[in-house]
Amino acid sequence: MSSTEQSVLDAFYMARALELARKGVYSTHPNPRVGCVIVRDGQIVGEGWHVRAGEPHAEVHALRQAGEQAKGATAYVTLEPCSHHGRTPPCADALVNAGVARVVAAMQDPNPDVAGRGLLRLMNAGIAVQSGVLENEARAINKGFLKRMEHGLPYVRVKLAMSLDGRTAMASGESKWITGPEARSAVQRLRAQSSAVLTGADTLLADDARLTVRPDELGLDAELTALAVTRAPLRVLIDGRLRVPLDAPFFKAGNVLVVTCAAASARERYQEQGHELLALPSSGGHVDLRKLMLELAARGVNELLVEAGPKLAGAFTQLGLVDEFQLFVAGKFMGSSARPLLELPLAQMSEALELKIIEMRAVGNDWRVIAVPALDPGV
Ligand SMILES: NC(=O)c1ccc[n+]([C@@H]2O[C@H](COP(=O)([O-])OP(=O)(O)OC[C@H]3O[C@@H](n4cnc5c(N)ncnc54)[C@H](OP(=O)(O)O)[C@@H]3O)[C@@H](O)[C@H]2O)c1
Repeated sequence: MSSTEQSVLDAFYMARALELARKGVYSTHPNPRVGCVIVRDGQIVGEGWHVRAGEPHAEVHALRQAGEQAKGATAYVTLEPCSHHGRTPPCADALVNAGVARVVAAMQDPNPDVAGRGLLRLMNAGIAVQSGVLENEARAINKGFLKRMEHGLPYVRVKLAMSLDGRTAMASGESKWITGPEARSAVQRLRAQSSAVLTGADTLLADDARLTVRPDELGLDAELTALAVTRAPLRVLIDGRLRVPLDAPFFKAGNVLVVTCAAASARERYQEQGHELLALPSSGGHVDLRKLMLELAARGVNELLVEAGPKLAGAFTQLGLVDEFQLFVAGKFMGSSARPLLELPLAQMSEALELKIIEMRAVGNDWRVIAVPALDPGV
């Protein structure tokens, strides 16, 4: 076989491994989404994907399915096989023991516990190793895990629903509903795939929002819905002065972290209700958002969804903490007294934040615009 034919086949099987990895989008937190395909004599003899943390990795599922047929086979993995004993034994050892002849990885694992050691282990055992096949696609499915491993920060998505004239709430604070059910369903899926969802005190006081994942609104098939609901994202509330009462609907479901710069002495009151209160230093009279991002990453948050109003979303933007904007645009005008998209006091055109629009598509009667800062957000 020529090297070109081999590259085409490698990309073909890696594409299948990536398809498998994507099945873990709602469930693998805090682990990465990983898929594996084992091929012998042009036949797929084993397939697997990582379902959730603490359970077998993709390679183990695929090797189990392949059984004896793994001997002399090629294993395609979307992330370098692990080399360390975590909650499960090293996958590099499993591949060696199974007698695999060649391993093709989409990318190296930036996790400092692995970082090339998995591939080295395979090479030392005489296995032919290649890395970098469909790497961009592999990076795209683990943006949060990679940002946390490479920069010690979560991948931050800011979601906002707005009118065609760029407004996010009426002057009274009323904002339900700007977009239609299909857009709200897309937001449900964004929530479900996130490690954590974050909002601010004023949004809760205005909207009584819960920010939970509602299975019937996900619009997913039964298998993915079941996976999505086995793990509820952490819900983070920024409440600098502890204004949101503990009987607010947001507190009805568990898994809440309240972040404040008020006295930590209130901690017990929150703990009694089963919620955690985290006191952080203030910056400009509010919670220090940079410190909070470091803290969330340290807690294993890969993808953070910010569902806040113009002030808080504006603060994230101004600090360069946003990796991606998810804007849902409704075909309506809300008028000039309604609130803007972001509070971002800029005076000159030269200060405008340049964005690169990476996707724009219709969602029901609304439009979904995905945009990223044109310049790296300071990591
Ligand atoms: N259209 C949409 O997609 C959408 C989404 C959410 C909300 N909304 C609407 O937006 C309105 C509320 O928006 P909002 O932004 O005023 O409320 P918000 O989202 O609750 O943001 C205010 C919160 O952020 C904190 N904050 C403000 N500036 C900060 C900074 N520089 N650093 C750190 N924390 C900071 C405040 O801190 P303190 O606690 O210290 O005051 C407060 O807790 C409501 O009308 C709601 O309906 C619309």
